[in-house]
Amino acid sequence: PLVEFLNFEVLEDHGWALEDDDLFEKAADANLRSSDFGRFYVDPNDTLLEAAEKNGFAWPFACRGGACTNCAVAVVEGEMPSPASHILPPDLTEKGIRLSCIAAPVSDDARIVYNLKHLPEVSELLL
Ligand code: FES
Repeated sequence: PLVEFLNFEVLEDHGWALEDDDLFEKAADANLRSSDFGRFYVDPNDTLLEAAEKNGFAWPFACRGGACTNCAVAVVEGEMPSPASHILPPDLTEKGIRLSCIAAPVSDDARIVYNLKHLPEVSELLL
Protein backbone atom coordinates (compact mmCIF):
# COMPACT_ATOMS: atom_id res chain seq x y z
CA PRO A 1 0.00 0.00 0.00
CA LEU A 2 0.99 3.57 -0.67
CA VAL A 3 0.37 5.77 2.34
CA GLU A 4 0.01 9.52 2.25
CA PHE A 5 0.50 10.89 5.73
CA LEU A 6 -0.06 14.12 7.61
CA ASN A 7 0.97 15.15 11.12
CA PHE A 8 -1.99 15.91 13.42
CA GLU A 9 -0.06 18.83 14.92
CA VAL A 10 -0.24 20.54 11.52
CA LEU A 11 -4.04 20.40 11.72
CA GLU A 12 -3.91 22.11 15.10
CA ASP A 13 -1.49 24.76 13.81
CA HIS A 14 -3.65 25.58 10.77
CA GLY A 15 -7.08 25.22 12.38
CA TRP A 16 -7.95 22.26 10.12
CA ALA A 17 -10.12 19.34 11.20
CA LEU A 18 -9.91 15.59 10.56
CA GLU A 19 -13.38 15.82 8.97
CA ASP A 20 -12.32 18.43 6.36
CA ASP A 21 -13.03 16.94 2.92
CA ASP A 22 -10.05 18.67 1.35
CA LEU A 23 -7.65 18.10 4.22
CA PHE A 24 -4.90 16.44 2.18
CA GLU A 25 -5.32 18.90 -0.70
CA LYS A 26 -4.85 21.78 1.75
CA ALA A 27 -1.81 20.01 3.17
CA ALA A 28 -0.33 19.56 -0.31
CA ASP A 29 -0.59 23.32 -0.89
CA ALA A 30 0.80 24.34 2.50
CA ASN A 31 4.52 23.83 1.90
CA LEU A 32 4.87 21.49 4.89
CA ARG A 33 8.04 19.84 6.15
CA SER A 34 8.75 16.37 4.72
CA SER A 35 8.32 14.88 8.19
CA ASP A 36 4.83 16.42 8.48
CA PHE A 37 3.41 15.52 5.07
CA GLY A 38 4.48 12.98 2.47
CA ARG A 39 4.19 9.44 1.16
CA PHE A 40 5.76 6.06 1.62
CA TYR A 41 5.09 2.43 0.72
CA VAL A 42 4.30 -0.17 3.35
CA ASP A 43 5.97 -3.54 2.72
CA PRO A 44 3.88 -6.67 3.25
CA ASN A 45 4.10 -7.90 6.86
CA ASP A 46 5.22 -4.52 8.21
CA THR A 47 3.01 -2.56 10.53
CA LEU A 48 2.36 1.05 9.62
CA LEU A 49 4.68 2.16 12.43
CA GLU A 50 7.50 -0.08 11.15
CA ALA A 51 7.01 1.23 7.62
CA ALA A 52 7.20 4.83 8.83
CA GLU A 53 10.41 4.03 10.71
CA LYS A 54 11.96 2.23 7.71
CA ASN A 55 11.32 5.41 5.74
CA GLY A 56 13.13 7.49 8.32
CA PHE A 57 10.18 8.96 10.20
CA ALA A 58 10.02 9.08 13.99
CA TRP A 59 6.34 8.56 14.75
CA PRO A 60 5.24 8.34 18.39
CA PHE A 61 4.99 4.96 20.12
CA ALA A 62 5.64 3.40 23.50
CA CYS A 63 4.48 -0.21 24.03
CA ARG A 64 4.44 -1.43 20.39
CA GLY A 65 1.80 -3.94 21.47
CA GLY A 66 -1.61 -2.27 21.23
CA ALA A 67 -1.75 -1.34 24.89
CA CYS A 68 -1.01 2.39 25.21
CA THR A 69 -2.47 4.46 22.27
CA ASN A 70 0.71 6.55 21.82
CA CYS A 71 0.90 5.34 18.21
CA ALA A 72 -2.71 6.20 17.28
CA VAL A 73 -3.50 7.36 13.74
CA ALA A 74 -6.69 8.36 11.93
CA VAL A 75 -7.53 6.62 8.66
CA VAL A 76 -8.99 9.39 6.51
CA GLU A 77 -9.08 7.29 3.32
CA GLY A 78 -8.46 3.61 2.74
CA GLU A 79 -8.86 0.55 4.89
CA MET A 80 -6.83 -0.52 7.88
CA PRO A 81 -7.88 -3.41 10.10
CA SER A 82 -8.36 -3.05 13.81
CA PRO A 83 -7.09 -6.25 15.48
CA ALA A 84 -9.24 -7.40 18.39
CA SER A 85 -6.64 -7.21 21.14
CA HIS A 86 -6.09 -3.54 21.76
CA ILE A 87 -7.01 -0.75 24.08
CA LEU A 88 -9.05 1.53 21.76
CA PRO A 89 -12.74 1.83 22.68
CA PRO A 90 -15.33 1.13 19.93
CA ASP A 91 -16.36 4.78 19.56
CA LEU A 92 -12.81 5.63 18.44
CA THR A 93 -12.40 2.69 16.07
CA GLU A 94 -15.76 3.65 14.52
CA LYS A 95 -14.25 7.06 13.77
CA GLY A 96 -11.38 5.40 11.88
CA ILE A 97 -8.81 5.64 14.64
CA ARG A 98 -6.27 2.81 14.61
CA LEU A 99 -3.05 1.80 16.31
CA SER A 100 -0.08 1.94 13.93
CA CYS A 101 1.99 -0.54 15.99
CA ILE A 102 -0.34 -3.48 15.36
CA ALA A 103 -1.75 -2.95 11.86
CA ALA A 104 -1.17 -1.49 8.41
CA PRO A 105 -3.45 -0.37 5.59
CA VAL A 106 -4.78 -3.16 3.36
CA SER A 107 -6.09 -0.92 0.57
CA ASP A 108 -3.75 0.06 -2.30
CA ASP A 109 -3.85 3.68 -1.17
CA ALA A 110 -4.48 5.22 2.21
CA ARG A 111 -4.48 8.65 3.76
CA ILE A 112 -3.40 8.64 7.37
CA VAL A 113 -3.12 11.37 9.97
CA TYR A 114 -0.50 10.35 12.53
CA ASN A 115 0.29 11.78 15.97
CA LEU A 116 -3.33 11.34 17.06
CA LYS A 117 -2.17 11.09 20.64
CA HIS A 118 -2.72 14.86 20.69
CA LEU A 119 -6.44 14.41 19.95
CA PRO A 120 -8.22 14.90 23.31
CA GLU A 121 -10.27 11.68 23.06
CA VAL A 122 -7.03 9.73 22.55
CA SER A 123 -4.81 11.60 24.98
CA GLU A 124 -7.13 10.78 27.87
CA LEU A 125 -6.43 7.08 27.21
CA LEU A 126 -2.64 7.46 27.13
CA LEU A 127 -0.79 5.18 29.51
FE1 FES B 1 1.36 1.40 22.35
FE2 FES B 1 0.92 1.24 19.74
S1 FES B 1 2.71 1.86 20.73
S2 FES B 1 -0.51 0.97 21.34
